[in-house]
Amino acid sequence: MKITFYGHNSFALEIKGKHILIDPFISGSPLLHGKINILDVKADYILLTHAHQDHSLDAEAIAKNTGAVIVSNFEIATHYENKGITVHPMNLGGSWNFDFGKVKYVIAHHTSSFADGSYGGQPGGFVIEGEHKNIYIAGDTALTMDMKLIPLYTKLDIAILPIGDNFTMGIDDAIIASQFIECDKIIGCHYDTFGYIVIDHEEAKRKFYNANKDLMLLELTESIEL
Ligand code: NI
Ligand code: MN
Repeated sequence: MKITFYGHNSFALEIKGKHILIDPFISGSPLLHGKINILDVKADYILLTHAHQDHSLDAEAIAKNTGAVIVSNFEIATHYENKGITVHPMNLGGSWNFDFGKVKYVIAHHTSSFADGSYGGQPGGFVIEGEHKNIYIAGDTALTMDMKLIPLYTKLDIAILPIGDNFTMGIDDAIIASQFIECDKIIGCHYDTFGYIVIDHEEAKRKFYNANKDLMLLELTESIEL
């Protein structure tokens, strides 16, 4: 499993030769400054945690360019299906075996609306099991007791957790989340993109280290291999 960071909550996963794009917010990212042309982004699937623009902005353009299937909650899937895009609707607690692995759409505590204010269903996160590696992508969420359910069905190898505070969990709650999900390897996301969520990188890493957890803050476009 290869994981590439595009800033904010945008990640590209490569599992079994398939390209899985998470929450593409690339063309409008204040971090990327147009460094990546969305027409160059590969995708077989686009997984959307929720409808907010800082997660869904480039989903339509990339899906139309690549023919990727958009996977999200029923309302978001319907929104894109109405634009002629191939979708796979899910809802909370449900899982499905895709050709790259098993995906479970899990609870997140947040909100979900499109840029025009229309309803974007309930927000969620994804647990993906593929190539004998298991990853949890929390999406935008508060710390929630529901995270304790995840290790009951999946032994995680790595988790992507928001740490930017204000709109989501901050660092301290993300450390508790990493305990709830029983995962020691964390990739931070949803920080530094806007003034509200700027963090102190060294402090964040030190706090995780002191809790016996490893926090990775990837460089933009940096990849890691599991
Ligand atoms: Ni959000
Ligand atoms: Mn967000």
